[in-house]
This record gives sequence, C-alpha cells and structure tokens, in this order.
Amino acid sequence: MSEWTWEYEGYDPAEETLRESLCSLGNGYFATRGAAPECPAGGPHYPGTYAAGVYNRLTSEVAGQTVSNEDMVNLPNWLPLRYRLTPPGGGSGTDWYTPDDAALRSYRQLLDLRAGIYERHLVYEDASGRRLRVRQFRVVHMDDPHLAALRTEFTAENFDGTLEVESAIDAGVTNDGVARYRELNGQHLAEIMSGYPEDCTVWVRARTVNSGITVAVAARTYSSEGPACEPRPSTGTPTRPATRINLTLKQGETAAVDKIVALHTSRDSAISDPLDAALDGVRNVPGWDELLLDHRLAWQRLWHRALLEVPDEAGHILRFHLFHVLQTVSPHTADLDAGVPARGLNGEAYRGHVFWDELFVLPYLNLHFPEVSKGLLRYRHRRLDRARRLARDAGFDGAMYPWQSGSDGREETQELHLNPSSGRWLPDNSRLQHHIGSAVAYNVWSYARATGDARFMEHEGAEMLLQISRFWASKSEWDGDLGRYRIRRVVGPDEYHDAYPDATEPGLDDNAYTNVTAAWVLQRTLESLAALPEERRAELAEHTGLDDTELAHWDDISRRLHVPFHQGVVSQFEGYGELRELDWVGMSTKYGDIRRLDRVLEAEGDSVNRYQASKQADTLMLGYLFPPRELRALFARLGHRLDDETWRRTVDYYVARTSHGSTLSGLVHAWVLARVRPTQAWGFFQEALRGDVADLQGGTTGEGIHLGAMAGTLDLVQRCLTGLRIRSDGALGLDPVPQPELSGYDFAIHYRHLWGVRFRMRSGGLDISLPESNRPSLDIRLVDRTVTLRPGDSFHLTLPEGD
Ligand code: BGC
Repeated sequence: MSEWTWEYEGYDPAEETLRESLCSLGNGYFATRGAAPECPAGGPHYPGTYAAGVYNRLTSEVAGQTVSNEDMVNLPNWLPLRYRLTPPGGGSGTDWYTPDDAALRSYRQLLDLRAGIYERHLVYEDASGRRLRVRQFRVVHMDDPHLAALRTEFTAENFDGTLEVESAIDAGVTNDGVARYRELNGQHLAEIMSGYPEDCTVWVRARTVNSGITVAVAARTYSSEGPACEPRPSTGTPTRPATRINLTLKQGETAAVDKIVALHTSRDSAISDPLDAALDGVRNVPGWDELLLDHRLAWQRLWHRALLEVPDEAGHILRFHLFHVLQTVSPHTADLDAGVPARGLNGEAYRGHVFWDELFVLPYLNLHFPEVSKGLLRYRHRRLDRARRLARDAGFDGAMYPWQSGSDGREETQELHLNPSSGRWLPDNSRLQHHIGSAVAYNVWSYARATGDARFMEHEGAEMLLQISRFWASKSEWDGDLGRYRIRRVVGPDEYHDAYPDATEPGLDDNAYTNVTAAWVLQRTLESLAALPEERRAELAEHTGLDDTELAHWDDISRRLHVPFHQGVVSQFEGYGELRELDWVGMSTKYGDIRRLDRVLEAEGDSVNRYQASKQADTLMLGYLFPPRELRALFARLGHRLDDETWRRTVDYYVARTSHGSTLSGLVHAWVLARVRPTQAWGFFQEALRGDVADLQGGTTGEGIHLGAMAGTLDLVQRCLTGLRIRSDGALGLDPVPQPELSGYDFAIHYRHLWGVRFRMRSGGLDISLPESNRPSLDIRLVDRTVTLRPGDSFHLTLPEGD
C-alpha cells in the first residue's frame, strides 16, 4: 500500500460492511458508502447515501411504547450498475455478475486519497472460461458538490462477446443499516416518482414523509457506442428505473461505461426545483475526463490547506482520518445548515445526530478551514432559541443545548435504547449530559481565539455564551451547609453512570467535568462580554435583560462551584469513591472484550452504576480541554489546589477504572498521558489510531466512522504534541512534548491573517517558519521566552528529553 492509498485485497463478505464505511466517498454536502454497484442491499451489502442535514422523523412502536426518532435519511441509491455476458452461442443473458459470484477470480479495492477516487478491480471467469476484467473508478465530486460519477472499464481477456450493462437509480431504499434499530420504522421516503426523458437520462424524485424534503437524483449512462437508452422496465414509474446498453467486447480490448449522477434536495440554495436542477446537472457535465480533472484540482486545494505529514504507519492512518474528515465537513459544508454528524455521513449509527463530538473536530478545522468551523457554529446559533425553549421547559433560564441535535435543535436523544446483549429496551438517560452546552461555548471561544473573528464573537458568539452561562447559573443550586454551588441531576461524559445505585430518579450530582467547565464558561463569558464594544454590550443587555447583579452572580458561581474529591483525587461525581470496585481481571477473563461493560452487566441483571467503572474519559477530559497551567488556575479560582501530584494521582486513578467503550476515550487518554505518563501515551495513541481502521469497538465502524476520534488524532499531533495554544494577545504558545514512537511531523496552519505557518518536528527538535509571502510578524511564546518571527524567518526549538 502506498502512503497515498488505502487498499483491500480479496473479497471478504464478513468485512464488507466495514469496508463500505471506510471506502465511503463524500464532499461535505453528501456522501455514499463504498458499496458494490453490482449488488442490491441485503446480506453483507448496505449501499447508503446521505446528505448533510437531511433528516426525517418517524414514530415506531417498541416495547409497548410509541417512540419518535429523527434520522439522517438514506437517499436513493445512485450506484446500481450491473453487467452480464450473453451466452457464447447467443440468446438471453446469464446471471448478473456480483462479487458474491463463484465466477469471481480476484478483487481489489483502493482509495486514492490524494485524488478522492475509489477504485475497484475485479476479474471474473465464467463456466466457459471467458475472463472478464473490470476496473471501476468512483468519485463524489469535490468541486461541484451535487455530482458523482462512476467509470467502469471492461476488458475481454480471452474472448469476443457482448456485455449487457444496466444502470439504475434505486429509490426503494429504507434506513436499515443498524441492526439495533431494525424494530423501528425506517421508511423515510414517499411519493416516489421516476422517469426516462428522451435523452436517455433516468431520474427519481421522492419526498421525506415528515420533513417534506424533496430529493431528486438523475443519471446519464453512456459508452463510446452511445448512451444507455433502453428503459427497464419500459413502462410505469418504477422505484428503480434503469437503462440498458449492449457493449461489443473484442478480445484484448477495453470498453468503458460512464455514469454521471446529480443529486439535489429542496434544501439547496440557488435552485428552483430539485429535479430540474438534477436533470440540468447531468446534462451539462462535460464528460468524465473534465469532471475528473476538476475533482482532482479541488482535492489538491484541500490537501494544500490541510497539510499534515507524519511518517510510517501512524502517518498513513492520520492521512486516512484527514481524508474522511474532509469528506464529511468540507468547505461545501460551510454554506449549509448542518452540524457535525458524530458518525460522519458514512452510516446510520446515532441517526446522523450531532453530539458534543464537534469538540474534537473544530479545533483542527479552526486552524485550516475556519470558514467551515464558523458554518458549524452557525448551525448551533440558529438553534439557540430552541435551546432556550428546552431550558424553559425544564424549568431553567438560558439555553440548554440538546445532547443529540438534528434538524430543528430539539432534544433528539432516543427515549429507549436496546441492549443487544440482553434484548431489553431500556430508558436512555444520556440526555442529562448538559455538559454539551460547555462544549458549544468552548468551540465558540476557541474559534474566536483562532481566527480573531471579532464580528462573530460580538454577535452570534456573545449571544450563545450569554445564554449558556445563564443556563449554568440557573442550574446551580446554593448549598448552605457546603458553602458551595452545586449542579445536580446530570450525567457526565461517562455514560455508564446515569444514576446512583438503587435511585428511582436518574442523574448524578456535581460531575467534576460539568462543574469545572461550567465555571470556565461563566468566567470566559464575563471576559468576552466585558471586551465587547460599549454599544453592543448595551444592546445585548437591553435585549436580554442582563444586568450587573446577574453578572456578579455568575462571577460568584464561577468561583464557588463544588468540585468533589476523594482519596486525594478529583471525584468523577459526588459519591463516585463510595461505589464498589469492579473485578476487572475477573470480568475480562469471563467476557473477553469488556469495553461495553454496561451491556454485559445489565444482561446479568446487575448495573454498572454500582461500580467505579467508567465508559470513557470523564474527569480526564479536563486535561484534554485545558493545559496544565490553565487547569491549575481554574481549580485555584474554585478554591482548590490541583498540583502536579494530585493531577497525576487523578489520572492514574481513572486510567485504572475505564473500559474505553467510546473511541473518544483512547484519544483523550493519549492526550492527557502525553504530559503525565509519556510512556503510557503511545498505547492509547495507537488505540485512537486503530479505532476505526481495525474496528475496535466491536463492529460499530460498519455503521459509520467515528469522526470525533478521527479528527482528534489530527489534533493530537497539531496541538497536543506541540503544546500549541493561542494566547489572549494573539501570540502562539508552544510547549512541545516528545513522543519517541512518532519520529517526526510536518504541518502548516492558517492562523488569522497568516497562511502557511509551518511546524516541522525532527529528532533534533521543532522548526517553526513563516513563509515569505506573509507580511506581519508572529510572536511565539515559549515556556521561558518569546521569539518574534518575521516573514521568511524560521526558528529551531530543541526538545526536552522524554522520560
Ligand atoms: C460516546 C459519546 C459520543 C457519542 C457519539 C458515545 O458512545 O459515549 O461521548 O458523543 O458516542 O459519538
């Protein structure tokens, strides 16, 4: 495998779903799984096409309850293209070839990461010894986000014959990609129409049943012998309209068939009717070669802005992660009303919902594609009023962002979830993860720091910070006995703990991560509001009723929120230290993989709530968000001393009690350990790298990639290993840590007005350089001094020895 490709050799039905997810192609507007165009959905094949922000709501009956779920809709499948040879003596066709066929002799899949092309190489040999070689190239266009294309080349190795090729669009699709959801209603498309205009194009149009989004897909298929014009079926309005063409194959020669596709929805801007736009799209495409050229150039521009080079296997996987990040949230996303789907646009897990995972995605984007970060923050801002309503309905002030968000910003977390190990539907209390609000605030603040976008901060940014702070203030209760404010009845990032053992009501008190981040949000909001131009501050005050008394109250809370401790470590929540210890060795011996401890224990009639066992980094998330000095200062402001020893003890304590049932966990542990226990960090770094490519979470990658972990690994290099921070005065802080297993790295960032600020790590240390073209200078703040770089300057920083 070259460093710019991602390859699979041989066909393996057991791996097909995983490969489909990992070979998905997308452009930030829509994506299509890497499914085989020869095969309909079924068995190991699950073709899926999803457009950012296209959701639909359905109700279902499960476990005697009516539940309502909003899903990212599986759109009409544009892939179908199948082929068969006519029998040697003539007559009607044999079976269509598929990779599941006994005639398959070889199979290879290859993603060209540089150019965004997915290649498939197949060889078939039928019972009469005719060998047919097939090479197929697929793109989801990175320049024109509505286009996709498939070129298929057929070579008759040892025969002359006729190949029948059928190209179709299948609108008879449902959301059926996640086994756990199969008891739920998945029929999102209705009013399916289709047609074959005279110019040999086929099209389908459908509407999502509840959200009423019209989706149209059109396809033109042609070969050097002309367009595929024979309609199949020839009458009616089928859900799978197809056209056929016969190709004359000559021994040793290659014939190509091109299928050009356009997809539009009624959410698009600058169109009249989606079907018109789709038909217009396929008719005005110049041809495969030109299409490919524009696509390659668009990718070239992306890679230039995204530059991050790391050698060896780690670098290869990081490039693959970057490829998927760019396919899910590209510059095309900036103009859409869409958030960060936790599982990419690669599958249906978590229904395409938007969680706090953007906390792991935006920091990377901020320094390469700030306009995309801004677009994603605007998705949150447009739902600010809805978040205020959520707060009001729950009896609070301000804005309570939902744990899972979809189209209109209501709480989309499912009410019941299925434990596949026990077959039981259980209440889902993860909606109590109100820390999502702090994640939104953190992203607002970090975006503004990275870009210096004062206008955004004065308007959307300030409005979000203000309302999130107001929520935290109203959620904080004064406890006279403790002399502290408390935040009660919440769930922290560790979703295994959603209640005290034997409690009748869900929720926990004083989750340390929630309380400390709430204090941080209040403090930053106060600073940000104070920094606003006088007139804007007055306008906001008038509009929201914010006054000095409220500000003083926020300040007080930000200094006196309760942070629980036990045995000299920060407690994940009040009472965590009183829970039982789990027999980790016994459990692993009995069950093997215990990442999903919650399911294992529930199936046994027990509950993970009784144990000191966390799903993922929770308290340690504090070390992910805040570098050591800032974390110390935050604790100090809250009246606690968090010295290095206490933090180290806290880290060791939770490392020993975490099952890593989320891909985010390995990432955060790698990040935190890089500074606390560097020798342990690499194992977690590898876990984060292998999460999707080796499908470590037990078969979940086939249902969609884990975008947060993928983007987070990029940021591990960019910000964790360099200690890169953006200081309040605009200087770049640097405090690199060695990671001996990673022999070097090289990346460039777009920082405010500076393009191409370059960081190169080699064994001797870190080089930072500013390209000639940039006019202003840049201050680099090191632990012990400040260095000013002028255009064309570079600076070498020798690294401390690792331990
Ligand atoms: C994790 C959450 C995450 C969600 C979506 C869950 O398994 O526990 O932290 O937000 O997946 O990726």
